[in-house]
Amino acid sequence: MDIQLHDKVFTPFISAQEIDFAISEMAKQVEDDFAEETPIFIGVLNGAFMVVSDFMKHYKLPCEVSFIKMASYEGTTSTNEVKQLIGINQNLEGRTVIIIEDIVDTGNTIEELKELFKKQNVKHFKIATLFLKQDAYKKNIKLDYVGIRIPDKFIVGFGLDYDGLGRNLSEVYQLKD
Ligand code: IMP
Ligand code: MG
Repeated sequence: MDIQLHDKVFTPFISAQEIDFAISEMAKQVEDDFAEETPIFIGVLNGAFMVVSDFMKHYKLPCEVSFIKMASYEGTTSTNEVKQLIGINQNLEGRTVIIIEDIVDTGNTIEELKELFKKQNVKHFKIATLFLKQDAYKKNIKLDYVGIRIPDKFIVGFGLDYDGLGRNLSEVYQLKD
């Protein structure tokens, strides 16, 4: 069933089961790649809080978690300016850092993150994202773990919002045109 958030209508797009499967596959891949390490997962707030939660439940090996807060979106469009709103105060030197994103769109956010973590002398720096808007992504930064590739259309649900609303939906909806 379609839903309305503020002035816009959204239609069901990706089910809770598909999302859960994609996240469990990502967790398995990271387990395979870093079984010898204790990775620290860094969730990008606000959007990634649900992905991080489910990812951690699927990840069965020793790990830590922290969060960083970045913001670039106003309404349904990217502003090209990424702001860091909450930072990480932990020492990450020599650690395996795995960024967990809800969605990569233009890539401005992960570009900014990569710059930020470059100065920290981490051992590994990897990026995991549940969703990738393939046609919008213009950067050369490798995305190490990608859950689901989607068209360049605005979505909400599973942590993703439209001006604050829709984050609590357990499936993903796409903007209706
Ligand atoms: P980027 O910096 O352009 O890659 O955008 C990344 C951030 O913008 C994501 O972490 C989201 O918070 C937000 N974003 C991008 N696309 C969407 C969308 O379709 N719906 C909701 N938020 C989005
Ligand atoms: Mg985000």
